[in-house]
Amino acid sequence: MRKYKSLIKLVPYMKNYKMLIILGTLGLIASSLIYAPIPYLIGYIIDKVLLKNKNYYQLYYFIFILALLYILRYTVSLVSKALFIKFQNFLINNIRLELIDKILELPMSFLSNQEKGYILGRVSESGNIGTLFSPQFITIFLCIFDFILALFMMLSLSVKLTFIVCITIPIYFFTVKNSSNNFHKITKAAFENKAVLDASTFEILNGIEEIKILNGKSTQLGRYKTNLHNLIDSSIKQNKYIMFFTENISLVDDLSTVFILLISGIMILNGHLTIGTYTAFTNYMIQIFGTTRSFTGLGVMLEPICISIDRVQEIMDLDSEDSCRNEDLTEEILSIRFEELSFKYNKNTQNIINNLNFEINKGDRVLLSGDNGTGKSTLIKIILGLYFPDKGKLLINNRNSFGISTKSIRKRIGIVSQNVFLFKGSVLENILYAQNDKNRQDVVNLISKYNLEKYINNFENKLDTIITQNGSGVSGGQAQLIAFLRAILTKKDVIILDEGTSNLDSDTKKVILNVLEESNFYNILIIISHQKESFHFNKFINLNQYKENS
Ligand SMILES: Nc1ncnc2c1ncn2[C@@H]1O[C@H](COP(=O)(O)OP(=O)(O)O)[C@@H](O)[C@H]1O
Ligand SMILES: [Mg+2]
Repeated sequence: MRKYKSLIKLVPYMKNYKMLIILGTLGLIASSLIYAPIPYLIGYIIDKVLLKNKNYYQLYYFIFILALLYILRYTVSLVSKALFIKFQNFLINNIRLELIDKILELPMSFLSNQEKGYILGRVSESGNIGTLFSPQFITIFLCIFDFILALFMMLSLSVKLTFIVCITIPIYFFTVKNSSNNFHKITKAAFENKAVLDASTFEILNGIEEIKILNGKSTQLGRYKTNLHNLIDSSIKQNKYIMFFTENISLVDDLSTVFILLISGIMILNGHLTIGTYTAFTNYMIQIFGTTRSFTGLGVMLEPICISIDRVQEIMDLDSEDSCRNEDLTEEILSIRFEELSFKYNKNTQNIINNLNFEINKGDRVLLSGDNGTGKSTLIKIILGLYFPDKGKLLINNRNSFGISTKSIRKRIGIVSQNVFLFKGSVLENILYAQNDKNRQDVVNLISKYNLEKYINNFENKLDTIITQNGSGVSGGQAQLIAFLRAILTKKDVIILDEGTSNLDSDTKKVILNVLEESNFYNILIIISHQKESFHFNKFINLNQYKENS
């Protein structure tokens, strides 16, 4: 039972839907109760009405009652199952939402080591949990009522036959027990292989242009096939197990029925059992065997659900990036200081930035330079709290940034990053992204204030031009212009251009640098560039000097 303790983790999610669960359960119990007298009634009709009384009126009467009971059961069962379907969908989507919420809070040090498609696979896996509350599954749990009622009715029909039925039940459990050991391992492997294959699919879709240009189809398909084979392998093992399991149980089922027929046949021939009682009895017996079968199969069905719950929980238990950063930065950023700061992405490699000491204050316009790969973008990511220094400190307003919430830092920094990511939506929506207190008019005012209309008019539908995800349909330079407007729409303390003008034509670049030179809507400006920009910087950092062993 210990392996099913993961189910308890679902309790918090169920609290909001108590009413749905209670009504649904009551409904399914009621439908069991309605069914209970039905086989008894059938036996009665055969023995008393057909064989003994031979009475047409009684036949019509009992058939009417029988039909009524069936219709009533149908209605109650339909309503209660509909309630469970509703609950199941609420539950699963809430879990998915919490999972995405959590992923958005995870530190980049974790996320950048994971393939995006793999994480996508893990999120979609959470859908399996819903099966637990599917009407079919709930019915299995409630079968226990059918079982008790059926047992009671059987005892009232024939104690001897009931006893014989009962001694066959342990055979079911014995059959199941024998082969359940490996199932957990196989199922877990199947889940993992599916997530890995999702990662592979995602990579193909993401890099499709590159794959075509580089004629990489066969390389990519080769990798895909390896992952596919692993999935097929574990899937076959998993399904083989399920097949053996169901077939073995069916065999036990069939042999038990034949055995009961043998005993009942002898009893009927001896005159100790009537055909009506036998018919009623077998109907109850089908229920008893059905419940037993469902219960023995419960493990096979619960196992993947528990594994899914554990795998969701594994992600939920990871530390969020702000888990130790519980102060907010409420004042303007007036200074940023690096104190003997060192950083590396992976434990076993050399520092990318080694022992950096530098101070930036209000009014500073900093040119950050260095060869490719010297850690310029990385340094910006450290300022933004995406990564944390391995050694030394980053001080913001003389406070160690370690304790300051990343959200409150990021709110005060406007950035045009090296690879601008644009979201699905219009140009306007991208400029307004996550700035809920601004509207179209603010954007129009901003554009006219800095005379940027000409550049916006280059878009096919100006501000309403639709961008498909990740900026396709927009040139690199246009994306940087959008990111620039996004960065300066709300007043920011720090503006950072991480090679943020690299794709701009010289005309647009001049205008943007002009905007930054002429204005003082920010306290600190950091520009990363390989070129000597025509801009008046007062501070310079060259990261070539901060390489390890340099
Ligand atoms: N997410 C990451 N995981 C591991 N290594 C990374 C990651 N991002 C960048 N790097 C490595 O860190 C070094 C510095 O990268 P980056 O800061 O982007 O350089 P720059 O912006 O100066 O060209 C490079 O060697 C790069 O390969
Ligand atoms: Mg860079």
